[in-house]
Amino acid sequence: MPLDILVGAQWGDEGKGRMVDLMAAEADYVARYSGGDNAGHTVHVGDDIYKLHLIPSGLVRPHTIGLLGNGLVVNPNTMLDEIMQLQQAGIEVGPERLKVSHAAHMVTPAHVALDRAQEHSRGDDLIGTTLRGIGPAYVDKIARHGLRFGQMLDEENFADLVYKHTEAANQQLTQIYNAEPLDAQVVAAEYLDYARNLQPYIADVSAIISEALSDGKIVLAEGAQGTLLDLDHGSYPYVTSSNPTAAGALIGLGVGFRDVHRVVGVAKSFQTRVGEGPFPTELEGEIAGRLRGTGEAHWDEYGTTTGRPRRVGWLDLVLLRYAVRVNGLSVLALTKLDILTGLDPLKLCVGYQKDGKIYKDLPMGPADLSGFEPIYEELRGWNVDISGARTWEDLPSAATAYIQRVESLAGVPVYWVSVGAERDQMVVIG
Ligand code: IMP
Repeated sequence: MPLDILVGAQWGDEGKGRMVDLMAAEADYVARYSGGDNAGHTVHVGDDIYKLHLIPSGLVRPHTIGLLGNGLVVNPNTMLDEIMQLQQAGIEVGPERLKVSHAAHMVTPAHVALDRAQEHSRGDDLIGTTLRGIGPAYVDKIARHGLRFGQMLDEENFADLVYKHTEAANQQLTQIYNAEPLDAQVVAAEYLDYARNLQPYIADVSAIISEALSDGKIVLAEGAQGTLLDLDHGSYPYVTSSNPTAAGALIGLGVGFRDVHRVVGVAKSFQTRVGEGPFPTELEGEIAGRLRGTGEAHWDEYGTTTGRPRRVGWLDLVLLRYAVRVNGLSVLALTKLDILTGLDPLKLCVGYQKDGKIYKDLPMGPADLSGFEPIYEELRGWNVDISGARTWEDLPSAATAYIQRVESLAGVPVYWVSVGAERDQMVVIG
């Protein structure tokens, strides 16, 4: 029964990569269940840094098997690229260690071109997507004319399907968006080549997981993006086109409720977001600069996928409590506590006010955040370096008070606190 689901509790970029790396030490299988190569998971092992967008970051642990579930939209080019990158880094990744679901959908150059054209056409109302073709690929899935990995097994028909898909997209590109068409013949040939390379990786991922769980193996569902980017539960329309929340793991892997052991939420010790959309606790100026970093360190707040500077702000407990609710979180991991060192006082958003009324929770969820002013509670900061802390006792009292206040407002315990980018810079509490 041990299926652990790890989700982002904010707007993505919570530091899930390092938490997956930690939990993967005990897992047999690590499975991505939603999104695609819009994600960016960074794992630090000694001097090596692995930046993965698509392949489960838990594969960095050599004993694991990686799975890409049916809930994903997979760009085959990225998949092959990342397999090669890991192999060059000495991490063996082949069809024995990595499987992609026959029911996962494909991202094509047509999807990428449409993503770009659609963002361009939105003008000032743009979403700020990663331009990886994610939205258009999910549109095709929902419209029931997407391309699935299982179709790669029938080479003859597959090339024809890709050709027709690209031609259909060309009509939209040229007639609606006034954009350049793609050469469908070239795309079809390119995808046929991918198909020949990727055929050995295609499998029934749901069946693999079912068998693994019956054998008592541990499966870790590796979330991407975050709760507030969830298509249904996030800050719509400034969201991604999939369901990164915990229930998305069941759909996206083909697993039932019975097998879920716990749902682990990862939250940063402050709030960040890339792309457009509301952000009540957003900060500008000096404190923002401190939280974001200069971009010189690889853990600074600049997008792994796009390089964009992230917007930053105080930790928002109204939104975190919401994440606890919609995911059914069992426990929390709080990342980057060390970044708060030297800031005094610290602030936590504990409620909102709007039109003279006070709200402890959002009346209409995070899609309607405009006009909500944060109500802050101030906490003492600390000035000592906490990057060497490994136990609760190593932390200064102001830091433990901060964690305890987060626990009490969120309503779930914090089991892990990260205090630096290295694998061992972790305070284990639970
Ligand atoms: P899309 O997923 O590329 O369609 O982008 C939709 C929104 O989700 C944009 O605001 C992106 O910046 C955001 N987004 C998508 N993936 C991630 C991620 O892994 N981390 C943070 N934000 C993301």
